[in-house]
Parts: sequence; C-alpha cells; structure tokens
Amino acid sequence: MKLIVCENYAEMSRRAADIISAQLVLKPNSVLGLATGSTPEGLYRELISDYKKGIISFEEAKSVNLDEYFGLSPDHPQSYAFFMRAHLFDHVDIKPENTFIPDGTNVDRDGETSRYDTLIEKLGGVDLQLLGIGVDGHIGFNEPSDSISLGTSCVALDESTIKANSRFFASEDEVPKYAYSMGCGTILSAGRILLLASGKNKAEILEKTFYGEVTPRVPASLLRLVPEKVTVICDRDAASKILELHG
Ligand code: GLP
Repeated sequence: MKLIVCENYAEMSRRAADIISAQLVLKPNSVLGLATGSTPEGLYRELISDYKKGIISFEEAKSVNLDEYFGLSPDHPQSYAFFMRAHLFDHVDIKPENTFIPDGTNVDRDGETSRYDTLIEKLGGVDLQLLGIGVDGHIGFNEPSDSISLGTSCVALDESTIKANSRFFASEDEVPKYAYSMGCGTILSAGRILLLASGKNKAEILEKTFYGEVTPRVPASLLRLVPEKVTVICDRDAASKILELHG
C-alpha cells in the first residue's frame, strides 16, 4: 500500500482532491465510492473549488456512498444523505438521480442490503473508493468482527463508534445503534482505493492497519489483501506512530 504523509490536514485534502479530480478528468463517467465523517470534508471543499474553476465536472459521474444510519431519513441533519448534499452534491453538477446511498428508512434489512448490492453491480462496480477510518479500524461501518462481510449488511455499531459519533448528535442516546454498510468485498473490488486519515487519534489504528495482523478484527487491515490498489494519504499526526516505530 502506498503511504503519503502530508504536513497537515489542508495538504492531505488537496492531495486527495488531485487524485479524485484526475479520475474524473480521465473518466468523466466514473463511479465514485464516497465516504462521510469529518476527515473528507476538506477534500470535498477542494473538489467544489476544482468544479468552480471548471477543472472537473460531475455531470456524467455516479456516486455510491459507503453507509447510512439505520432509522434516519435523508432529511435528518445527521443522516449521511444530508451530509453528502451539504458537503458536496448541492455545490457541484452531479445529477441527484446519479447519487446512491443506502436507504436508512427501509426496515426490510434483507431487502435493502440486496437492493444496494444489485445497484452497485448494475453500475459495474466502483472505480475509485474513498475511505476514512474509525478509531477501531472500521471502514464504511464494517466493524471489527470474526468474519468478513462481503456485501452490504446491517451492522450493529460498536460502543467506541457510537461514542465517537455522538459528537454530531445532541446526546449519545440519539446515535443510531445500527447502520447499513457496503461490505468489505465490494470495497476491495473497487478499481482503486483512497483512504484518508487525520489527527493523533488515528495514529494507533493506522499503525495496526499497516503493520499489524491482516484480520477482520481490524477491518482496514484487509486493504493489505489488495495492496497495489490502495493509497493512504494522512497528515503527520495520523502517521506519528508509524514514523515513531518504523521510521
Ligand atoms: C464514521 C463513518 C466512516 C468514517 C468514520 C471516521 O463512523 N461511517 O465512514 O470513516 O466514521 O470518521 P471521521 O472521519 O469523522 O473520524
């Protein structure tokens, strides 16, 4: 896996935007796998800026998001559908009908997971998948587990994830306990994978991702099964443990 260590968050965001913008220039009808969380917010600002400068267009692009909270409607301010509109879709020329995200309001879990997998298959898979990383190593909402979930599933969120994400909600009790997440198999099948990590709280898990055991107990470590596809871009803080232990 290729590791690019940047001075700071701004540089990480710009380097990541360069990769996604290049993808859109070279293949305007790309299927982009998109992520939420605080980490990609700067990247999305850079993409909006590239779009406004006329460097890129999303007109022919399609997007599939990694995950959505179970029980939240697209109008809920903490839903990932809302996040994507606020941070990217409302500011670029992507067609709303070309943006896809699991439907958090669908209580038919089997129906929703197979609907999402069929949809991704029909799109021909993901060209470039963007990822953040949870403090427990989750990618999308694939939490540490004894087995690898290949396709979309409805996941019970870990205590640490509920705690970490409670910063976006009025209280911890309001954080949904389940989420729909694209599976690790779909993520690993993407043409190219770009993982972003920022901040000291990601240093330990990033070191485990690169140097620990490859195991579904650390979902991000599974990326080492397809090392040639993966680029990790992080800031100095997130790389600190790797730099300390491995130079
Ligand atoms: C959430 C999302 C993940 C994201 C992770 C890290 O739980 N489901 O896709 O990568 O949190 O978020 P942040 O970037 O805010 O640290």
